[in-house]
Amino acid sequence: TPRRPLAGRHAIVTSGPTHEAIDPVRYLANRSSGRQGHAIAQALAEAGARVTLISGPVALPDPPGVTTRHVVSAREMHDAVRAALPAEIAVMCAAVADWHVEPQARKLKKTGVAPTLTLVENPDILADIAHHPARPELVIGFAAETETLLDHAAAKRIRKGCDWILANHVGAGSDVMGGNDNEIVLITQAGADVWPRMSKTEVAARLTSRIIEALK
Ligand code: C5P
Repeated sequence: TPRRPLAGRHAIVTSGPTHEAIDPVRYLANRSSGRQGHAIAQALAEAGARVTLISGPVALPDPPGVTTRHVVSAREMHDAVRAALPAEIAVMCAAVADWHVEPQARKLKKTGVAPTLTLVENPDILADIAHHPARPELVIGFAAETETLLDHAAAKRIRKGCDWILANHVGAGSDVMGGNDNEIVLITQAGADVWPRMSKTEVAARLTSRIIEALK
């Protein structure tokens, strides 16, 4: 029906940061608030999709009408995304940590010599889902860029094997990360589409319209 154009479709959305434990009490993280991913999950649900939101630690309520699974680390997020397949739509909005820390069983102690943390690369959830045998029909990623946004994001779309990339600026002077507004360039196989600055809720609505169009 026109009011629930995504009825019968399953969408997986990732959102928020991941936390990577340094020891039992400390972690590495980033400034992602989860606002954009949560807004996308809610917009897709309002359009009739069954939505599984896989969220890292955020201070936001679970969006209404969405099944939310809470995870902490990138490896937990990866497992939860794979367990949620199959789906027609995947929107990987989370700011996944690139590395985890080689595990320490005990709390690090201040000894006068600063400890060395050994970082180990995390799985790339977006690239994995884009190359999965049960790949969703539409795989969408984000690119938070600080420089030469368009070139980097277009190359990322190819490298990750996803269909679309929503690129945004997060450099110095930008208030996108953690803020209410977003500035998006949508990169598809057809080229780049520059969106005006708008709220994260409006970005979610506009992306949902594009998804509805693409799956028609
Ligand atoms: O490589 P980069 O982190 O810039 O790519 C960003 C995109 O890839 C986002 O869509 C993000 O959710 C996704 N990503 C991921 N798993 C990672 C790193 C990034 O799914 N380990």
